Amino acid sequence: MKTKILRILENANGYVSGEELSRELGVSRTAIWKNINSLRDDGCVISSVTNRGYRLENIPDFLDKDIISRKLGTSVIGKKIEVLKTVDSTNDEVKRRASKGEPSGLVVAAEEQTRGKGRLGKLWDGQKGGLYFTALIRPELPPSDISSITLAAGYGVCLAIREYTGLDARIKWPNDIIIGNKKVVGMLTEIAAQADMLEYAAIGIGINVNNDCFPDEIKNKATSLCTELGRKIDRNDFFRCVINRLDKVISSFIISMSIDDITSFTKLCATIGKRVSVQRADKPIEGTAREINRSGELIIVDDSGNEYVINSGEVTVQGIY
Ligand code: BTN
Repeated sequence: MKTKILRILENANGYVSGEELSRELGVSRTAIWKNINSLRDDGCVISSVTNRGYRLENIPDFLDKDIISRKLGTSVIGKKIEVLKTVDSTNDEVKRRASKGEPSGLVVAAEEQTRGKGRLGKLWDGQKGGLYFTALIRPELPPSDISSITLAAGYGVCLAIREYTGLDARIKWPNDIIIGNKKVVGMLTEIAAQADMLEYAAIGIGINVNNDCFPDEIKNKATSLCTELGRKIDRNDFFRCVINRLDKVISSFIISMSIDDITSFTKLCATIGKRVSVQRADKPIEGTAREINRSGELIIVDDSGNEYVINSGEVTVQGIY
């Protein structure tokens, strides 16, 4: 109920009366009033004026594990949530906890990372207002199945963004998320494994949420939800939506990646049908991304009709950063 009220107030241009809210949500005005007070307890500033109603003045922009956990109801991811003010990297923190036996489901988020990690050994320079976190899972899978985890994480976050903001977020295979041709989410999944079984996977996710300025090197390639929407969003509420989606999608992809899962993923994948190139030690591959197969691999066809199966590596997509 609180989330619904918050969304209505966020989208309103000015005051919304208690009567309108109670009509739209099918509950009494007393219920609206109680929920408004509870939102105020969460740190939202909501003004009220007799005969006009309520207006959202400000939403709190600090992560709060109690607010995030409230009514979460996930089966694994988010069973335990920790929010740190600062940490070297949430991936490293989760790996340290995992090596001491932390069970599946822990999510560690941080307002600031001093050594955030990107792919290919690069640093991830997350700006204030973003959402940076790592989820720990211990699936009973062979290490080769890491790609299903990677795809599931990208798909889950993409669905959460679409659902929460209505923005046309798409996946750049395997798991970057873009809006238009700019990156809004980056992910780094790290694993520990025995020869034939994963010990754990640390799924690290960085989402540009309320950050609206970027360093010069990436400012033409990166965007944020706030930049695209033209307003800030409630990070706690959005984070809950992301955790919910990740929990559902990851459980389903891990049980078995069905043809329906692949079809749904493909529909949101911006890479399919585009000209792409992949750096390879011997020679680069250039061609058109044709499809994603049952194992989640990308099939590229070059101009002579040769088919290549790509399961990892950086894919450059024409027209996207
Ligand atoms: C990339 O696009 O290069 C991957 C970026 C991954 C960044 C996230 S932020 C949270 C988590 N902790 C890290 O140190 N990295 C990931």
